[in-house]
Amino acid sequence: MQKLTVELGTRSYPILIGDGLIRSMGQHVAPLLKRPRTMIVTDAHVADHYLAPLGASLGMEGISFSSFVLEPGEATKSWAGLARLTEWLIGEGVERGDHVIALGGGVIGDLVGFACSIVKRGCNFIQVPTTLLAQVDSSVGGKTAINVPAGKNLIGAFHQPALVVIDPATLETLPRRDLGAGYAEVVKYGLIDDPEFFGWCEAHGAALLAGDSAARHKAIAHSVAAKARIVAADERETQDIRALLNLGHSFGHALEAETGYSDRLLHGEAVAAGMVLAHQFSAANGLCAAEDAERVRAHLASVDLPHSLASAGVNADGRTLAAHMAHDKKVRGGKLPLILTRGIGQSFVTEDYGLDRVAAFLDA
Ligand code: NAD
Ligand code: GLY
Repeated sequence: MQKLTVELGTRSYPILIGDGLIRSMGQHVAPLLKRPRTMIVTDAHVADHYLAPLGASLGMEGISFSSFVLEPGEATKSWAGLARLTEWLIGEGVERGDHVIALGGGVIGDLVGFACSIVKRGCNFIQVPTTLLAQVDSSVGGKTAINVPAGKNLIGAFHQPALVVIDPATLETLPRRDLGAGYAEVVKYGLIDDPEFFGWCEAHGAALLAGDSAARHKAIAHSVAAKARIVAADERETQDIRALLNLGHSFGHALEAETGYSDRLLHGEAVAAGMVLAHQFSAANGLCAAEDAERVRAHLASVDLPHSLASAGVNADGRTLAAHMAHDKKVRGGKLPLILTRGIGQSFVTEDYGLDRVAAFLDA
């Protein structure tokens, strides 16, 4: 088992990584609990595979639990989902000192984290991420949210978990498409500031996606260490450090909006195409070499991720896509900060490029 720490002073917390950890969760949870009782929240797909083994491991430590199984899918991260979950937690008699377990992907993690930030003015929660996206990104860092009709993740809070337990063996049951979407977020860490890791992705990404367990471990541990470092340096995204995690997200956000935030294009798939566009836009503006942009495109294409507007299934014009970007919640003072790059692993935040230039680039 590998152990990392997110360094946030008195709110620091461990991240444990190891195959089979779900089956020994009880040992890691027991020392945190004020009373031998917890609540598990999950979705129906994940419950089929992992609720029983997790429950059994809690039972072995004398911890009683109740469980709440939600509908899988993004629609669960909603006002309705939040209302059902918070009412269930209150009905279960949740106390402020309790630790609620979020067992699932980013949808469950974001929803449970937000519910735990507000129920009884805040209780603790533990992230047990079961998708690659959640294991390398969303389970760490305390961003929690629900979606509302006006947009994704618009209602939320920063609320850090007390513990993150990553069991990479859970990826064995994850559909290949979701694995690919999570892999885009792995590649992102190389492109942000770690060119050597991008080279590792080029060499080992295909094996990881084919199920190579050593490659999965290396990618998860490396990515989550990068995320922990970034969150420790800029927890609330006020210093243009955490903002770098949005590489590919502004372009990707336009593609997700255009495809209706639906199964037509998963979040990680939109990020993949968005990262290519961010590199190509940087090259078109003389910031980075065209060869670097092509390297990024070629790698994502080689693992069957969207790498262009067409392969993302989008044929809208530049003006339409730029209009979606203008609604991004990162807009400040009317300007959208873009994450651009000077080359592989040299990303930076800038407000120097207006959306008119982005629209013209997307039409070219
Ligand atoms: P998800 O939670 O919807 O999971 C994808 C699918 O995989 C679901 O059908 C789920 O039931 C299923 N699943 C999960 N684990 C499984 C397993 N081990 N075996 C079989 N099936 C499994 O999607 P996601 O991609 O994990 O998360 C997407 C969400 O994460 C979005 O809402 C996004 O906004 C959010 N997100 C949050 C952050 C953050 O920092 N908080 C960062 C990135 C993304
Ligand atoms: N996934 C973006 C962040 O955690 O900041």
